[in-house]
Amino acid sequence: MPAPRLTGEQRRVLDWAAAARRDLPWRRTRDPWAVLVAEVMLQQTQVDRVVPRWERFLRRWPDPAGCAAATVADVLTEWSGLGYPRRARDLHGAAVRVRDHHGGTFPRHLDDLLDLPGVGPYTARAVLAFSFEEDVAVVDTNVGRVLARRAGRRLTPREAQLAADEWVPVGEGWAWNQGMLDLGALRCRPAVPECTGCPVRRTCLWARTGRPLPDPAAGSAGVSRRQAPFEGSARQARGRLMRALEAGPVPPSELSGVTGRDVAAAVVVADSLVADGLAVRAADGSLTLPR
Ligand code: ADE
Repeated sequence: MPAPRLTGEQRRVLDWAAAARRDLPWRRTRDPWAVLVAEVMLQQTQVDRVVPRWERFLRRWPDPAGCAAATVADVLTEWSGLGYPRRARDLHGAAVRVRDHHGGTFPRHLDDLLDLPGVGPYTARAVLAFSFEEDVAVVDTNVGRVLARRAGRRLTPREAQLAADEWVPVGEGWAWNQGMLDLGALRCRPAVPECTGCPVRRTCLWARTGRPLPDPAAGSAGVSRRQAPFEGSARQARGRLMRALEAGPVPPSELSGVTGRDVAAAVVVADSLVADGLAVRAADGSLTLPR
C-alpha cells in the first residue's frame, strides 16, 4: 500500500487552515514583488494597518522596475507612518538589485533572494512559499511560537527551521504556511492560547503536559520579545525627524525642536539616521532625505 500523502495531523491543520483562513489581499496574488512588499510591511506592522498601505504602494510601484526608478526619498515618503523606515530603504535596494542583477525578473532561488537587501531567512522563504508555491517552511514569530510549544522546549534557529521544514506536507507549501501564520496569530496566541479544538493539540507537548511555565516559546528561535515603550525612545525621536525630513530639509538649529530632545541627543539621533542611509547631510549641515 502506498504511504498516505498526509499524516492525520497535517490533514487536520490544513482543514482547520482552510476554514479559518483570513481573506487578505496579498493571498490573492502570486506576484513575487507584491508578496515581498507585503511580507516586509508585515514584519513590524499589524495586518489591519498594512492592507491599505500595501494597496497604495503597489498602485504606485506595481513592479520592481518602477520602484527602482524612484528615489529612496520617494520610497521613504511613501512609507511614512509605517515605522522602521530601514525596511523602505531596503525594499528600494531590493528593487534596484532585481533590475541590475536579475534583468528585472524576480529571482526564485533561496540564495538569490537572501542576497536582496533586507531579505532574511523568513522573507526569502515567504516569497518562495507564497509566490512560487514551493514546499519550504516560513518561521516568523507566530510559527516560532507554535513550533516551540509543540516541541515543549525552547528551540535554536536551526532546530526551529528543521522542525518547520519536516512538517510541510508535499505540494501544500502555500496553504500550509498561510495556515501556520493563522494558527499562531488566531489560536496559539502569545498570552492566551486557545487549545480547545486546536488541530495540533494531540501532538503538542506543552498542551499535553498542562502548559507548565515558563512558556517554551519565550526566548525560542524566531519568537520576538515584547517591545520597549515607544514614548521617550530613540525610535520615537527618529520617527519625528523622519517626518520633518519628508516635508523638507532640517537645519541643525531645528534638530532639537523637531526631535524633542536636547541638542546633544538630537545630534545623536540625526547621526543615526545618516549612518542608516535614511538621511544625508548637505554642505551647510542641514539634513535631507537621500536621493
Ligand atoms: N504575517 C506575515 N506574513 C503574513 C501573511 N502572509 N498573512 C498574514 N499575516 C502575515
